[in-house]
Amino acid sequence: MGRLRRRSDTLEFLANAKDVVVLEPQIHKGKWRKVFGNDNPIHVELGMGKGKFISEMSLKYPEINFIGIDLYDELVRKASEKSYALREEHGVSDIDNLRLLLMNIEKIEEVFDENEIDQIYLNFSDPWPKKRHASRRLTHSNFLKKYRQVLKVEGEIHLKTDSVSLFEFSLNSFADMDLKMKNISLDLHREETPENHVFTEYEEKFVEQGVRIHRCEVIL
Ligand SMILES: C[S@@+](CC[C@H](N)C(=O)[O-])C[C@H]1O[C@@H](n2cnc3c(N)ncnc32)[C@H](O)[C@@H]1O
Repeated sequence: MGRLRRRSDTLEFLANAKDVVVLEPQIHKGKWRKVFGNDNPIHVELGMGKGKFISEMSLKYPEINFIGIDLYDELVRKASEKSYALREEHGVSDIDNLRLLLMNIEKIEEVFDENEIDQIYLNFSDPWPKKRHASRRLTHSNFLKKYRQVLKVEGEIHLKTDSVSLFEFSLNSFADMDLKMKNISLDLHREETPENHVFTEYEEKFVEQGVRIHRCEVIL
């Protein structure tokens, strides 16, 4: 996100956006259902970027609780602005089923308890193509072990990527852990976009350029 300009009041913005931004997520470990005030399933997007996907999903599926995570404060701000704008557009006053966290995915087990998450989305994660950076890929076994800890039994990871190398690496990584895979596609939008599909920002750009999108769902 090199070109992203950071506004000087971003931390203040985040501190004031308490209805959607959670700045100290670790205090809610094991208590996320309390944060949402219900027992609905919890779906988490790791690396949400500007938040188009997670905020559209939260509007479309009010019976699911969504959590978007990103490493950069300016992106968490953009994601909250996006969700405020969407709610206004649709005449929905509050944001009950969406929370946005500014944190490093490496610390996921400090923020969620065992079995606390129902589903994880990995959308267009950074491919880290150099071999020496393999352990930074979000489907590296070190990350998968962490996800397995916080996902409930039979919880799922839904992955979409334009990167052939990351996709191949991920399939191998899932296979090495004996994970069940389903709904694999090497060209998700080839015939027609799946019904009810929610595009991410990156996906929208890639599809416009005719780049193929790879998709895989994994059961842990
Ligand atoms: C290529 S972007 C994809 C954004 C969005 N999911 C989409 O599809 O449009 C990857 C995002 O992951 C975030 N990210 C990468 N590594 C991360 C980490 N360790 N913890 C939190 N966020 C991370 C980046 O900041 C970036 O916003």
